[in-house]
Amino acid sequence: MSPLPPTSISTTHAARHHLRAAMVGFGMIFDETYRPFFEQAGRRGFLSPGAGVTTCELAAVVSLTGRRAEAYKGNAPAGMASFASFTGEEGLRDLLAGEVGASLDAVCIATPDDRHFAAARAALVAGKHVLIEKPLVLSLAELDELEALAAQKQRLVRVVYHKLFDPDHKRLRTLVVDGVLSHVNHGYCSLLEPKSVGLGQFAAWNQGRNPGTYVACHYLKLIDFTFGGRLFSVSATGQRGLAGPVDGDTWDSTQLRVTYAYPDGRTASFDIHTSWVTPDNFPGYVEQEVQFRFDNGVWNGHSRKRGVELTVEGRTPHELKTTVNTHYNGTAIEPWGERTQRGYGIEAIEQFFREVAYVEHGTEESGVGGTREERLQEINSRPFASLAADRPVVAAVQALEAILAAAAAGQPDGVVRVDDRAGGLTLWLPGDEEPRILHVPAVYER
Ligand SMILES: NC(=O)c1ccc[n+]([C@@H]2O[C@H](COP(=O)([O-])OP(=O)(O)OC[C@H]3O[C@@H](n4cnc5c(N)ncnc54)[C@H](O)[C@@H]3O)[C@@H](O)[C@H]2O)c1
Repeated sequence: MSPLPPTSISTTHAARHHLRAAMVGFGMIFDETYRPFFEQAGRRGFLSPGAGVTTCELAAVVSLTGRRAEAYKGNAPAGMASFASFTGEEGLRDLLAGEVGASLDAVCIATPDDRHFAAARAALVAGKHVLIEKPLVLSLAELDELEALAAQKQRLVRVVYHKLFDPDHKRLRTLVVDGVLSHVNHGYCSLLEPKSVGLGQFAAWNQGRNPGTYVACHYLKLIDFTFGGRLFSVSATGQRGLAGPVDGDTWDSTQLRVTYAYPDGRTASFDIHTSWVTPDNFPGYVEQEVQFRFDNGVWNGHSRKRGVELTVEGRTPHELKTTVNTHYNGTAIEPWGERTQRGYGIEAIEQFFREVAYVEHGTEESGVGGTREERLQEINSRPFASLAADRPVVAAVQALEAILAAAAAGQPDGVVRVDDRAGGLTLWLPGDEEPRILHVPAVYER
């Protein structure tokens, strides 16, 4: 993706506050959402209610090799190429120990899913606000540790759930909250990535991993946030043989089932199918579909087929996509001539920085009462991205990991139960008399 050309519209001079951020992980998601955010937030800023216009600068980057960061520097729009680049497994430690690290307000973590925790912990220990790509972490123990650290350091830790910002999903939730759709009964979600992503872009880390952990969590969050209730069981199956050996621990696709109970005693089950071995000549970037059935209705959503179908000889469906999702991070020339890149993928990141600006710079003068601590609590009480509200999602992710690990070790068909007599999260395997305890404390407050 080439950088945006400079615009004549600049509000930087009017900015009241300036934030400095670091990016840990500089891969696909950086290019899709963080890059356009920083390019626009550095130049013209954004409005944070209670804090005013705030600019945000990408001050440092940490990645394994630094190659993509250097390539970006060579191509970056004016003002974007001055960030410091740190490399290797110890890159974040080096960054945080130095002058650039000391100047940071926030750290964004977009490393592969099994490397979120260590980076988040290090950033929090250094006193930074933290934004983490989904899945937050892979276990409830890790979540508990981050939550305790965030409280001790009085910093925000938020998870990027951009599907909650998708206008279709906002509409769905509104219909549920307003009681137009009553009582979800069951549902189905699927997200299928092409081989060029699963086996190409992710080749450096996909071994021993599965496509469910890193992407089913979008739908786990959507279900949890939209319908409420309490998660009480998780089961999963999967297929192997393309990304790795047929009897190995690398999964091509997974089918995750979560079951929730609601206050009226009724339940609902949801199946979430994911794959990263879809053929590359697939007409969209990713196949994303949901169907939810209610007592009185059905919601069918297809994030790829929202109405546009594009054909360009010799260019679709590889270089350009046939069904284009213009809502996620669409590039366009605005009617007034400016080139922009907008969408819910970018909004989710901007929201985090608005929240950081609000906590650090919200003042009575700008119509906001309360202390910094009260503002922090206020943001933490917004559940869409908070650590506390992510417990059921992390529980389901930890359950999926445990069920797949047991299957790879020769014991398939496990079921994980939440808050049963044996513990907070317990794995029940066919043939075993006792469950394996994955997490002792309760997942939900009793
Ligand atoms: N919100 C979304 O829809 C969405 C979409 C894609 C990816 N993601 C998430 O973003 C994260 C990264 O995914 P991606 O698609 O960008 O992956 P990627 O493989 O394209 O990039 C990973 C990056 O992390 C770096 N990295 C790996 N280990 C590191 C370490 N120990 N320290 C520092 N840097 C390290 C690599 O050098 C690379 O720059 C994952 O958690 C994924 O789930 C989110």
